[in-house]
Amino acid sequence: MAAPVDTTTVFLPDTLKGKVAFVTGGGSGICKGIAEALLKHGAKVVIASRSLDRVTKAAEEMAKSTGGECFAVSADVRKPEDVEKAVAQAVEKFGGIDILVNGAAGNFLVPAENMSYNAFRTVIEIDLIGTFNVSKACFPHLKKSKGTILNISATLHYNGTPLQSHASSAKAGVDTLTKVFALEWGPYGIRVNSIAPGPISETAGIERLLPKEYAKGYIRAVPLQRLGSIRDIEHMAVFLASPSGNWISGSNFVVDGGSWLTGNSFQYPDSIERMRKMAKL
Ligand code: HXC
Ligand code: NAP
Repeated sequence: MAAPVDTTTVFLPDTLKGKVAFVTGGGSGICKGIAEALLKHGAKVVIASRSLDRVTKAAEEMAKSTGGECFAVSADVRKPEDVEKAVAQAVEKFGGIDILVNGAAGNFLVPAENMSYNAFRTVIEIDLIGTFNVSKACFPHLKKSKGTILNISATLHYNGTPLQSHASSAKAGVDTLTKVFALEWGPYGIRVNSIAPGPISETAGIERLLPKEYAKGYIRAVPLQRLGSIRDIEHMAVFLASPSGNWISGSNFVVDGGSWLTGNSFQYPDSIERMRKMAKL
């Protein structure tokens, strides 16, 4: 089994010195891990989500664990006025933005025929419209810094994932924004890429989508025979945000132990009926 490695053994600790990052969804899960990795590598980091309490606690914890500077702001990425305000706070605090990580997202399992109109719209608004809103608000600062955007995508839409029509559609849209922003903003020196994690253990995403009793069967469909760790995603984020990524733009990086090759993680080898059972629907 291929074990995850410690980020600090891979990149130099001052790789991102002098950079400022703005990370949505940075108070929990994968994007908290990314925020911490950026801090460990010398960046100053602003984390944003709806719950000021959550991001404030996370910022204090990560400043302590890394010795870096982490600042918390609250914003609902669906609301442009919230986003503009949070970006202005970040720029006032640290003087600019070099790295934007669009990680805020929502997801839950529900068959399309039972999904309310508002449920579908909610996930599209958080994942897709939120990515547009935050990217647009950060654009003037990224243009100034010749910065970079990392969109946190998924592999759900490669084949379409049952019970996740909202999130699959939203992430397909996010991948399209990655390409269009890369085309439009490349001439300003802004690089735009996305990372598509596979199922990552100890995250809200996996707790919502893969009940523990099904994990073992699921892992059989991952060529590397394990779930991912938050650390696995951090490596890719540091790589892309650093000068190693200087000529990479408009690309999507799948970090999933090879599971996208088995068709679709959540379909293979389960039938939709089994998935309904798993989700108790
Ligand atoms: C059916 C549901 C539902 C559920 C909410 N809704 N949860 N429908 N099953 N489990 C419906 C509600 O009834 C409502 O529709 C609409 O969705 C909006 O719900 P609210 O609770 O009002 O929305 P809001 O407070 O804005 O919260 C957003 C949320 C919530 C997405 C619903 O779960 C959330 O805050 N999530 C953030 C954390 C999260 O989801 N993390 C996982 C990311 S993982 P009606 O019609 O009743 O008004 C991820 C993994 C991807 O993205 C890939 C993994 C491999
Ligand atoms: P998570 O911990 O639930 O992270 C989602 C974050 O988004 C939360 O911190 C939440 O904070 C924030 N958020 C939700 N709605 C928001 C809104 N409207 N405005 C601002 N912030 C909002 O989930 P995770 O599992 O680590 O997922 C992180 C990212 O990885 C997501 O983009 C997800 O799609 C992607 N991903 C995850 C997996 C996985 O296996 N976990 C796999 C593939 C892709 P608040 O509640 O405080 O707002």
